[in-house]
Amino acid sequence: MEIADLEQVVGIEKHCSPSPWSLKQFQQSLDDSMVLVTAGTIVGFSVVDSILSEAEIHNVAVHPDYQGQGLGSLLLDHVVDCLPPATTKLHLEVRASNFRAIRLYLHKNFIQVGERRDYYKTEYGREDALLMSRSVCTGRE
Ligand SMILES: CC(C)(COP(=O)(O)OP(=O)(O)OC[C@H]1O[C@@H](n2cnc3c(N)ncnc32)[C@H](O)[C@@H]1OP(=O)(O)O)[C@@H](O)C(=O)NCCC(=O)NCCS
Repeated sequence: MEIADLEQVVGIEKHCSPSPWSLKQFQQSLDDSMVLVTAGTIVGFSVVDSILSEAEIHNVAVHPDYQGQGLGSLLLDHVVDCLPPATTKLHLEVRASNFRAIRLYLHKNFIQVGERRDYYKTEYGREDALLMSRSVCTGRE
């Protein structure tokens, strides 16, 4: 992700998230971010931070017009491929009601390892976050 991508990324985020990240949050995460491009158009992005053997997906989205075509799956595979070689665990948090994302994460070998009660704001109150993790193979190039 580059500075020139930010306007499109923020636009996708507004379509995708009930509590969208600000431009500033993306600016501060540029070094940890990548965009998903199809036919010259940015259609998704990921923000993944890693420290020593642990990595965390802080944000990931595919534009609604492009969802359900396997692009989120491709993006997650690429995120894993791009992790530093020392990474052995990948973590994320997801809204308990975000069934599509949870299905995708389960499909990608994440398992639920915990929950945070009332972690996210919703239109009607609050909802839990599920904490999910997966192992990452060592010995990657
Ligand atoms: C979660 C998210 C990134 C998934 O992206 P996506 O591109 O829709 O993901 P995929 O298409 O790879 O997989 C999603 C669905 O498509 C199906 N699929 C996968 N490959 C497919 C293909 N080639 N053709 C058709 N469908 C396919 C998957 O089985 C899955 O189906 P299901 O939801 O019915 O179980 C996307 O829904 C999104 O941006 N959501 C809003 C933001 C968000 O919730 N981010 C996660 C925060 S934790």
